[in-house]
Amino acid sequence: MSADFPQELVHALRAARLVTVLTGAGISAESGVPTFRDPQSGLWSRFRPEDLANEAAFRRDPKLVWDWYEWRRRTIAAAGPNAGHLALVRMERKIPDFTLITQNVDGLHARAGSKNIVELHGSIMRNKCLEEGVVMSPVDGDEERPPLCASCGAPLRPDVVWFGEALPERVMTAAVDASSNCELFFSIGTSSVVNPAAQLPELAMHGGAQVIEINPEPTRLSGLANLSLRGAAGAILSRLVMATWPDAS
Ligand code: OAD
Repeated sequence: MSADFPQELVHALRAARLVTVLTGAGISAESGVPTFRDPQSGLWSRFRPEDLANEAAFRRDPKLVWDWYEWRRRTIAAAGPNAGHLALVRMERKIPDFTLITQNVDGLHARAGSKNIVELHGSIMRNKCLEEGVVMSPVDGDEERPPLCASCGAPLRPDVVWFGEALPERVMTAAVDASSNCELFFSIGTSSVVNPAAQLPELAMHGGAQVIEINPEPTRLSGLANLSLRGAAGAILSRLVMATWPDAS
């Protein structure tokens, strides 16, 4: 299939030294990980993610929220990186200063082989103490659900950013720096509705970057971006990387 993106983009990407990519749940959709704004399926269809992914819900019913995360962890563990994740690994190898900012907590970019990743919303694969915030793994043999912190006995919770929580400052600083100082900024598979991630493309624009969106659906960003590529991330990114660096491995 011939590329459906302008040759100017291929030339700009080939010449670029500073590229920043922001991804959302849409990049993992082709791996079978449901996006946030898809209706949930099966067992959990009567819950909305917003009603489970918050501290009040966890304090009210820790087992319910923990079981939901266990279900999501199993879905993610059974999934693998797709063509979109892999194309971004190849892009990183070609760009001298490449930053991948992700809103996803599924760890699929790291499993694909991406290196310079800023995990804006944490990682579902890690846990931390609800009270002390220290990252830790459940103690072997702990049958409690959720398991308990080995130091203070409080429940462990996933090390993700919940609704109503601030992003870690170190992570936010890295994301702002990489967005403000790049030549090309890609926004891929995100509905661009959740701040502060949704503000990063505008920081990039103010810094003089060209902003390119990849999404099958129009979003709030579509009218602002320099270019909106409509379609699935896997196919578009693979073709873009192949067209830009035909020898990319
Ligand atoms: P959403 O579920 O809001 O949006 C997913 C986007 O992916 C939509 O715009 C889809 O059109 C698009 N999409 C679907 N399939 C795609 C494909 N194959 N290729 C490319 N795009 C595709 O997910 P996010 O924008 O990531 O935050 O949501 C942002 C944040 O909202 C999440 O990180 C989460 C949630 O609240 C926290 O948990 C803090």
